[in-house]
Parts: sequence; C-alpha cells; structure tokens
Amino acid sequence: MIFLSPPDMSGNEFKYLKEAFESNYIAPVGEFLNRFEEMIREYTGVKEAVAVSSGTAGLHLALRGVGVERGDKVLVSDFTFIGSVNPILYQGGEPIFIDSDPTHWHIDLNLLEEALKKEKPKAVVIAHIYGEMAPIGEILSLCEKYGVPLVEDSAEALGAFANGKSSGTFGEVGVFSFNGNKILTTSGGGVVVTDNRKLAQKFRKWATQAREEGVPWYCHREMGYNYRLSNLLAAIGVGQMEQIEEKVAKRRQIFERYKKIIGEKIPEVEFMPELPGVRGSRWLTTLLLPQGSEPVELINFLKKHQIESRPLWKPMGTQPLFRGAKVYTRGVGEELFRRGVALPSGSSLTSTQLERVANLVVEFLQRGQGRDGEE
Ligand SMILES: Cc1ncc(COP(=O)(O)O)c(C=O)c1O
Repeated sequence: MIFLSPPDMSGNEFKYLKEAFESNYIAPVGEFLNRFEEMIREYTGVKEAVAVSSGTAGLHLALRGVGVERGDKVLVSDFTFIGSVNPILYQGGEPIFIDSDPTHWHIDLNLLEEALKKEKPKAVVIAHIYGEMAPIGEILSLCEKYGVPLVEDSAEALGAFANGKSSGTFGEVGVFSFNGNKILTTSGGGVVVTDNRKLAQKFRKWATQAREEGVPWYCHREMGYNYRLSNLLAAIGVGQMEQIEEKVAKRRQIFERYKKIIGEKIPEVEFMPELPGVRGSRWLTTLLLPQGSEPVELINFLKKHQIESRPLWKPMGTQPLFRGAKVYTRGVGEELFRRGVALPSGSSLTSTQLERVANLVVEFLQRGQGRDGEE
C-alpha cells in the first residue's frame, strides 16, 4: 500500500529514543524535551516554544491565552481540518466560519474584513493549509486594524516561510502539529510558539495541571490540563527536526514532479497555488480535477491499486456539527471540496511509486471517470 503521508523515520530517531529510555526520563520532563523546544525556537526564529501532546491541545492553550471565553465569537477558516475549530468549542466560544479565496484557497480577505467589522470577535484563527501559507501579512494588518489577536494554525505548515519568516510566528501565537501524517512526527504531539514570554509561562503552567510554583505542596489557583509532551516523544522529535529541510525539499520535489507528469498530459488539472514570496512545505500535493470528474471515483480507483488518496477538507460550515453556525461564504470551499484530491506525498515516497500514482491519475482522467470498473 502507498500511504498518503506515512511517518518517515530515517535519521537518529531510534537512537535518541533509546537514550531517553535509558536515562529513565520517560515523563514530560527531560533533556530531549528541552532540546526539541530549542530546535523549534531556532528553526522558526521565535522566542518561546512549548511542546504539548497534540496540535489541538496547543490551539486550546493558544485560544485561552488570547482571552477567548464562554460566548466569545472567534473567526476561523472554513476550509480546514476540525482540529482548528474544536478548541474554540472547548473554550465555549462560537466559531464563525470564513470561506476561502479561489486564487490561493486560504481565507478570503474581503470576507474576513466584513466579519471583523460586523462580529467584533475575540480572536481570529487562520489555518495555513496543506503546507502552504495564507496571505499572512494582509491578515495580520486586518487583525491589527480591528485590534483582534491572531492565532496561526500552522499544524500542517512547519517548514513554510513567507519572505524568510516562519509560519506560526506572525500572529500572537502559532501552533504546529507532529501527528503521524505531518511533515515531521513524534507519533502525536504539537508545539505552541510565541514571542510573548508571559503567555508562554502560562502555557507551561496550564499544560501541567496549573500547579503553582514556589509552593511546597500542590497548590492550584486556576484550571489546568495534562497537555505536556513526553520526553520520549520529544526524543523522536529531535531526530526528526535534524532532517526538516531535507523533508521539506523532498515534499516540494514530489509536488513539482506530480505537476509535471499530470499537468503536461491533463492541463485542466489545477494544482494548489503558492503565494509570491512563500516557500511552502507542500505537506500534501493537492489538486482540483477537471469539471465533471469525481474525486471519490478517482480515490476508489487508486485504492484498487493499493494507493491511498483523500478528498480535500469538507468546509466546516457544511458539517452537521455546525448546523446553524454563521458562515461568511461564496461557496469557494465547497467547490474545492467538490473537485479536490490529495495525493500520496510522504517524504519516503520513491520516484517509482510517484510515477505509478501520477500515471494512474492520468489514465483515470484520460479514460473518463467511472469507467475503471470495466477493467
Ligand atoms: C489544520 C489542522 N489543524 C489542527 C490539527 C490538529 O493537530 P493534532 O492532530 O496534532 O491535534 C491538524 C492536524 O491534525 C490540522 O491539519
């Protein structure tokens, strides 16, 4: 089976895991946790990094950190994974969804401004999807204009930079994910980044049951969570971080190769754009099929050939969970969902595997959808 984005453990991960194990620091404290955070700080150029058990946990801390409370409105990308939105619910907030712009698939700036004006939200959460970056400079200017803090959901976008500045470092807080299918993985994990030292201190405290420091007994003045990353998983993360640039380069090559093979034969296929000044990480190669082709049929066709592919995100405003929620939309996300597919993009994908996938996509599109059953 060729998977969509499997873990790629090709460096010192096991060695470090063993070292962590042998040191008996099997808890959410230890040298590897410190090193992992330091590597994230250095790579992203941010002052503070707090490693946590998942990207979702990180977003939860971020939202609480920027002051989202029960009943508060939060503007959030509509075309994203549910992990961007669940933390708003954890805080008792009301998510208001903002559709995508068809030219880059990220949040639509006009709709964002309209909603900022009308809704007076407590925070904005934007997702940098598929390893590409949203127009972050413009988003930040809008948030500043309306005095609303920005949280960057960079779960999918470690390794993405806009004009040399890392994703996740523009807003008040940014969050990366290290779950099993991301650019780098710790099996499960995440990290919250910010330049705000006080906020980072709060994140550390909340992530460890909000125990008060400087008191000899267990003293608690506020609610906390058990969100800290284990030293064992951080050891895997250190091994992975050593290879971040190679892995990004590999994913970018994969994207270019798919684009060349499929795009040359079927020019109507549209690949996800990259904004000027952005060096994305191309976490997943995503494309829109020509009008009239059915993503689900292509996905089933590839599955018969032992290849995993996926539809693009189904917009949050169309999910049963959010029936009745406010959505600022022009139907762009729905169109992306109707036509989009994500192809296998893991950094361990071989060129033979890639060519096989690409040729099958071409074959499917050339023969016309739905006819694979005639084989
Ligand atoms: C856009 C986005 N946000 C949030 C998350 C949540 O991250 P995690 O799975 O580490 O909780 C993910 C990935 O899973 C994601 O793709």
